[in-house]
Amino acid sequence: MAMLKSSLAFLVLAFAFAFFLCFIISTGDGSYVYFQFVQQWPPATCIRSTKPCSKHRPLQIFTIHGLWPSNYSNPKMPSNCVGSQFNESKLYPQLRSRLKRSWPDVESGNDTKFWEGEWNKHGTCSEQILDQIQYFERSHEMWNSFNITHILKNASIVPSATQTWKYSDIVSAIKAVTKRTPALRCKSNPTQPKGQAKTQLLHEVVFCYGYRALKQIDCNQTAGCWNQVDILYQ
Ligand SMILES: *[C@@H]1O[C@H](CO)[C@@H](O)[C@H](O)[C@H]1NC(C)=O
Ligand SMILES: *[C@@H]1O[C@H](CO)[C@@H](O)[C@H](O)[C@H]1NC(C)=O
Ligand SMILES: *[C@@H]1O[C@H](CO)[C@@H](O)[C@H](O)[C@H]1NC(C)=O
Ligand SMILES: *[C@@H]1O[C@H](CO)[C@@H](O)[C@H](O)[C@H]1NC(C)=O
Ligand SMILES: *[C@@H]1O[C@H](CO)[C@@H](O)[C@H](O)[C@H]1NC(C)=O
Ligand SMILES: *[C@@H]1O[C@H](CO)[C@@H](O)[C@H](O)[C@H]1NC(C)=O
Repeated sequence: MAMLKSSLAFLVLAFAFAFFLCFIISTGDGSYVYFQFVQQWPPATCIRSTKPCSKHRPLQIFTIHGLWPSNYSNPKMPSNCVGSQFNESKLYPQLRSRLKRSWPDVESGNDTKFWEGEWNKHGTCSEQILDQIQYFERSHEMWNSFNITHILKNASIVPSATQTWKYSDIVSAIKAVTKRTPALRCKSNPTQPKGQAKTQLLHEVVFCYGYRALKQIDCNQTAGCWNQVDILYQ
């Protein structure tokens, strides 16, 4: 009987604790837990695109796609939160000219529209931590802190029409420099040669940051590329 009582007490305590944890997490001043900072490889963005970018040679450096407040429990990240809508006049000239380098609208060439879309969809969900100016300043600093194009080149990973890589080859090369595990996102290869091993295209590299967007952390989501399929970087 005493045994039953104590295990019952334990159960109640465990439930209370779990409930408490859930409470802390879900009220943790916002509906996101960490940030995904996503950089894209423009040639992969433009492949199969119906937008103007498929008509000229895309940039050959990784540029920003977005800074996305995210959470682990829900793979669909929060979006279009209640908050201030994008205000172009807040981007002072020096910031604007920086963003034109780091965060161009690769697909359609309307940078302001791209920034507006990313802020309204994602930035509004972390506005309690980063206001619009800080959101764009931090993103540019993140882009500036590591040059992925350079890191890969330095590890002899350069664009090639034929050479393929393992997911871990690319991740290890980046991690060796950043000391944090990045995540990769791939796109299916539209020009898959018949009879050859299936490949996918490296499209985006994700860095993860903590709640305040200051400390880089390991990314642990892996859903961005197919498992066991070699990767083309071209
Ligand atoms: C994750 O995001 C969803 C969608 O916005 C939100 O409902 C949920 O509370 C978030 N979870 C956590 C732990 O913040
Ligand atoms: C946009 O930002 C500018 C500069 O901070 C400010 O003067 C203006 O009132 C803002 N516009 C809106 C609609 O909030
Ligand atoms: C670019 O997008 C902005 C914001 O959506 C819009 O105001 C502007 O007219 C667009 N410019 C062009 C050239 O389409
Ligand atoms: C990043 O590295 C690439 C390849 O080395 C180089 O072409 C590019 O200019 C670098 N970008 C910046 C902003 O330093
Ligand atoms: C370049 O490669 C060397 C040796 O592989 C490595 O020690 C160094 O950290 C790399 N530097 C950058 C900026 O990627
Ligand atoms: C990723 O890490 C977070 C924080 O440590 C953890 O809560 C989550 O369960 C992990 N997700 C996976 C898929 O490992």
